[in-house]
Amino acid sequence: EAGALWGGRFASGPSAALAALSKSTQFDWVLADYDIRGSKAHAAALAAAGYLSADELNDMRAALDELAARVADGRFVAAEEDEDVHSALERGLIEITGVQLGGKLRAGRSRNDQIATLVRLYLLDHAAVIRNLLVDLLGAILDQCLAHPTAILPGRTHLQHAQPVLLAHQLAAHAWPVVRDLERLRDWSVRASASPYGGGALAGSSLGLDPRLVAAELGLGDPLENSIDGTAARDVVAEFTFICAQIGIDLSRLSEEIILWNTKEFGFVRLHDAFSTGSSIMPQKKNPDIAELARGKSGRLIGNLTGLLATLKGLPLAYNRDLQEDKEPVFDSVSQLEVLLPAFTGMVATMTFDTARMAELAPQGFSLATDVAEWLVKQGVIFRDAHEISGELVRYCEERGIELHEPSDEELAAVSPHLLPAVRDVLTIEGSVNSRVGAGGTATVRVTEQLARLAERIAEF
Ligand code: ARG
Repeated sequence: EAGALWGGRFASGPSAALAALSKSTQFDWVLADYDIRGSKAHAAALAAAGYLSADELNDMRAALDELAARVADGRFVAAEEDEDVHSALERGLIEITGVQLGGKLRAGRSRNDQIATLVRLYLLDHAAVIRNLLVDLLGAILDQCLAHPTAILPGRTHLQHAQPVLLAHQLAAHAWPVVRDLERLRDWSVRASASPYGGGALAGSSLGLDPRLVAAELGLGDPLENSIDGTAARDVVAEFTFICAQIGIDLSRLSEEIILWNTKEFGFVRLHDAFSTGSSIMPQKKNPDIAELARGKSGRLIGNLTGLLATLKGLPLAYNRDLQEDKEPVFDSVSQLEVLLPAFTGMVATMTFDTARMAELAPQGFSLATDVAEWLVKQGVIFRDAHEISGELVRYCEERGIELHEPSDEELAAVSPHLLPAVRDVLTIEGSVNSRVGAGGTATVRVTEQLARLAERIAEF
């Protein structure tokens, strides 16, 4: 059979049903350029070990460049009978060089060490794309923080009013997980940069090829220590898929807030027309579809991870064809993030806040009750009693439908003699927010420092 990389020991070619099952060019063609780069490096290793003359090496590398050009402009594409990207490209090379030269290239390597290397090269490149997209997102979040230095948000726990915080503090709380995602990508890329090339099918090569030559030419670090590990492990792929899933989860958490804030009931945020969608039947609708797609796609990203982990679980060493199933999930995670992040960043950059609405709601729901308790502690009341007294004040106000600052001096004293009129000093939102000067707190002075630190961290990546 024309393009197959095997066949000598077979009396017949593969059945049509097997060929259809086995075929991977419909998704591994994105690795074509990496495959050709690997082949050029491998040719240099073959030449260094004496298996190609200097002229042959020149011809081989020129032919591989020509093949890359044909792939780039579509003159060379995978054919129906090509099993995978590797087989197709060997066919393409031999079309250029003839079999005498092209037929030499496969010595000392296997599709098993090739594919393990190529998927790393692909993911390293896309990690850089995703990194830049995340840096853009962080820039948009930081700009929103800087544009709203004093805006107040009713901070929530259990989705109930808890304590007022600065809007910038809340938005920055969505930035730090993304900073950690960037750290994860950076840490991952160290492990991903080790090179499986040279591992052959599983046992290494007997031809005296130097895998460091290949690794260096591909921009990778040292070759892996163990050829079985190098050809059979996919933890680097799984870890990358996890990072994509975690990014999805981090976007999804911010999405959920934006979706809530964008409701009529909250009314905290308005989305730009260019980053929201309408309804085909309800003319008035303006929907937060980007946030919903981010929330939905995070499920898909988790599915890609768990599917891949299930594929890897319990596989015996070394290469098994199951490993071909690693590509579609991780490629999908990459392409989902690459299409999602620009839209998501645009939505974040252009959303506008109704800060008057947020400030109006911030004191409601007795969100300053903790401030009362802490004021009492500063007066020397033990916290258990302070918590009790503050709780009684909440109950007193709740029964009368008033807010904490509204009872008269006499009413305060009736709830507890510790509740002096001066307690009203802490019953302002600004007073509450700016009293939280502890490390990482929401006081303006701390948040200003935090945003400066955030800008520094973003600039690292
Ligand atoms: N297409 C395979 C993969 O994605 C690589 C080829 C290895 N095939 C084989 N029969 N050893 O993992």
